[in-house]
Amino acid sequence: METMTNPILASLPENFRAVVIGASGGIGSALCALLERQPDIGDLVQLSRSRNGFDLLDESTIEAAAGALGDRPIHLLICATGVLTVDDRPPEKSIRQIDPGVMLRQFQINAIGPAIVAKHFLPRLDRQSRSVAAFLSARVGSIGDNRLGGWISYRSAKAALNQIVRTASIEVTRTHPHAAVIAIHPGTVRTKLSDPYAKRHSAVSAGQAANQILQTLDAVQVERSGSLLAYDGRGISW
Ligand SMILES: NC(=O)c1ccc[n+]([C@@H]2O[C@H](COP(=O)([O-])OP(=O)(O)OC[C@H]3O[C@@H](n4cnc5c(N)ncnc54)[C@H](OP(=O)(O)O)[C@@H]3O)[C@@H](O)[C@H]2O)c1
Repeated sequence: METMTNPILASLPENFRAVVIGASGGIGSALCALLERQPDIGDLVQLSRSRNGFDLLDESTIEAAAGALGDRPIHLLICATGVLTVDDRPPEKSIRQIDPGVMLRQFQINAIGPAIVAKHFLPRLDRQSRSVAAFLSARVGSIGDNRLGGWISYRSAKAALNQIVRTASIEVTRTHPHAAVIAIHPGTVRTKLSDPYAKRHSAVSAGQAANQILQTLDAVQVERSGSLLAYDGRGISW
């Protein structure tokens, strides 16, 4: 018999509806594995490019996936998509390596795609009860925290994502007073995305990261909507 985990998302309504975008990714799949075992979950919608054709580069696939959700509102939305390496080109070490095509793709996948997700999915958050929407960002997208330089396309695309989340959160508050919309840094996590770089840092497993992220999302108050948070709930400067 499968063992039930302790409930992490006690702040969400009973039978809550969760949607994970990027469910095929390292962090996305670990989030889904944990969510599936939550006693109060009503349904879990898992969307990804490789399994459902949900492509951040094609708005029609995003709109169709949102439309297929029907009328039942979302209580937990997590957008766990993203790229660090584009076309086998590692992130830049110097401004001399900037390639407009690579930079454009970084913005398309890490910023514009999630903005289109916000457009089609945030209006579907529950208006009557608590809901949380989180977009996976990165500490390196913080301008105030940038002391090392490098990775200019990824950093700036994530900075744009942070502004997109902040702007969307203000609008959502007007129609969904119980919703918290945040950007979240998952920590350094062992996944395909981080594989070439994580060895130099202490990295956690995707399961550990998912657990911490869900605990932070459970605790986040509506007053913190529009924030950039770390996996442990601490704020990160813009
Ligand atoms: N791992 C870390 O240490 C770390 C650190 C800081 C921030 N983050 C952020 O955390 C998030 C998740 O990263 P991860 O480590 O789990 O990466 P991952 O294992 O490489 O997963 C990336 C996910 O993004 C999806 N994706 C990529 N391009 C897409 C597109 N065009 N359309 C739709 N989906 C697309 C992939 O879908 P398919 O597999 O279906 O193609 C996959 O589900 C990212 O935003 C990343 O920037 C990660």
